[in-house]
Amino acid sequence: MPDSKFYVTTPIYYVNDRPHIGHAYTTILADVLARYHRLRGVPTMFLTGTDEHGQKVQQAAERGGISPQEQADRTVVRFQELWRKLEITHDDFIRTTEPRHVAAVQAILQDLYARGEIYRAEYDGWYCVPCERFFTERDVPAGRCPNPDCGRPVERIREANYFFRMGRYQQWLIAYIQEHPAFIQPDFRRNETLGFLRKPLNDLCISRPKSRLAWGIELPFDPAYVTYVWFDALVNYISAIGYHSDPARFQQWWPASCHLIGKDILTTHTVYWPTMLKAMGLPMPETIFAHGWWLVGETKMGKSLGNVVNPMDMVDRYGVDAFRYFLMAEMALGQDASFTEEAFVRRYNADLANDLGNLLQRVLKMLADGCAGCIPEPGTPGPEEAQLQGTALSTAAAVEQAFANMRPDLGINAVLDLVRETNRYLELRQPWTLLKRGDRRTLHTVLYHAGEVLRIAAGLFHPVMPGKMQTLRRALGLPEGAPDMGGLKTWGRLRPGARVEPVPPLFPRIAAGNNPPDGEKQAMTSPTITYADFEKIQLRTARVLAAERVAGADRLLKLQIDLGNERRQIVAGIAQHYEAAALVGRTIVVVSNLQPARIRGVESHGMLLAASSDGVLKLVTVDGEIPPGSAVK
Ligand code: MSP
Repeated sequence: MPDSKFYVTTPIYYVNDRPHIGHAYTTILADVLARYHRLRGVPTMFLTGTDEHGQKVQQAAERGGISPQEQADRTVVRFQELWRKLEITHDDFIRTTEPRHVAAVQAILQDLYARGEIYRAEYDGWYCVPCERFFTERDVPAGRCPNPDCGRPVERIREANYFFRMGRYQQWLIAYIQEHPAFIQPDFRRNETLGFLRKPLNDLCISRPKSRLAWGIELPFDPAYVTYVWFDALVNYISAIGYHSDPARFQQWWPASCHLIGKDILTTHTVYWPTMLKAMGLPMPETIFAHGWWLVGETKMGKSLGNVVNPMDMVDRYGVDAFRYFLMAEMALGQDASFTEEAFVRRYNADLANDLGNLLQRVLKMLADGCAGCIPEPGTPGPEEAQLQGTALSTAAAVEQAFANMRPDLGINAVLDLVRETNRYLELRQPWTLLKRGDRRTLHTVLYHAGEVLRIAAGLFHPVMPGKMQTLRRALGLPEGAPDMGGLKTWGRLRPGARVEPVPPLFPRIAAGNNPPDGEKQAMTSPTITYADFEKIQLRTARVLAAERVAGADRLLKLQIDLGNERRQIVAGIAQHYEAAALVGRTIVVVSNLQPARIRGVESHGMLLAASSDGVLKLVTVDGEIPPGSAVK
């Protein structure tokens, strides 16, 4: 992509329902790309918005007993709130009911009609009501909708409508796609579109009689009709930047650098939209990028399946940066990815709490102990330092490459590798030993190098985790404001003498069994497990022998428990619900074969069970006397 500007869009979301993780993903991805380009100093325009017309919205309004506009007004707020919460930095938010959009759509329709690109004809064919799509005889051999996600019976329809001469652009489109490999990405999606174009391309019905669908933009040349939802929605990408109203602004941003879409709307974006633009005489977007699907475990996500992941819940429980990080790190762009809370916690603990969080805490502590809380003046670097510096600088290049290939997940991996290498470097150079030995010169060199890596890693992670990375930068005594890519490709920007601020752990470890803040509600329905899976978990009764608070952690209690044939210590996040003394003598239920872990530096071997709802937490116990160590099944 040329660097003169970057214009990125998300699909505009239907206002028929509340936003879910799929919507959150596309918008976070666009935000990460936008922030990354701003980091590189590229003028950036990031557009998102809502698709407010059409049958889906009309039906949702009817169900709720409100007008479609009211439905749109109520639902749009949910999207806007979510984007605020996810720290989305869009430059514009377009609603298709806004006058600026309606005017652009009508101007386009009028122009295409006047030039014979749109014509009226009698339509006689098949129609799928839920998909709002027309099909020919050939498309519906079994009388059912050919959309693999639908398959419902189609209806015979006979009515006059308006058509866009899409078919005439078929050969042009095939040639354009073949000559511009970056146009549809990833490659296998380009082949999918080319496959679709092997069949004759029909003209596109672009209208609906108001008698059937009233909620839409009226055709300027026939008030008995509204325009079909795609001819309305796709235009948002140009109406928002001033097509027909502000030519200078339009010139500045069009063509789009990247339309991000989900794989479900590939045909509309790679066939309808390019042919519409061609008929309007406008240049093509540089890239239409279709990402894969978020599954929940192995299953499709859906309201009827009851497994919709609510992004608001995830942010409340784990924080916005960790949520953004997980979505970006876990999905290889283009492929489907699986969301489970276990995978989330695993990755959070491994990448953020352990690798990155520990590195920061170690370096800050050593800077406090060994350098009076300031960035030190480094001495002459040795071979280990030279190697670390080389890796840091090549990581910036790897991130650039990863973004150029639309693989932010690989960029994230490269930064994590750098963080891990720095942890190994510290193990090797042992600054704590240097401090004890009084070898200040080497100590300062080592800490300066580790600090520099943190500065670079924080900058490279900035588009993904802007809030936490700002805290990290502040901790290192760096100036306020976003970093710039040039600085991240240059070694030695940490200023000796700058004051370092100790900060609480950026990503406190999520302990098994200790749900994080507000972790009472399951954000999703877990997949079923087999009996064999269940059998792996050993649940036993235990008697609490002693209990006390863990110093410096207001949620944690440390319990000594009797498991019948052994005594153990466990740490549990129940201090806000139980007084330590009140637990002594109680019989509780614990997962006894859980791998031991250290929680806030305290050994925990096992996990107690507790039920929770809306901020209330109650221990699971047994109904009467039973010896400690009894199996619970
Ligand atoms: N309004 C149309 C788009 C018009 S664009 C000119 C639409 N809206 S939508 O609300 O149904 O959802 C749009 C997008 O949400 C999908 O294309 C995709 O980007 C995202 N996702 C919806 N479910 C998803 C998953 N389960 N996983 C990932 N993204 C998915 O279609």
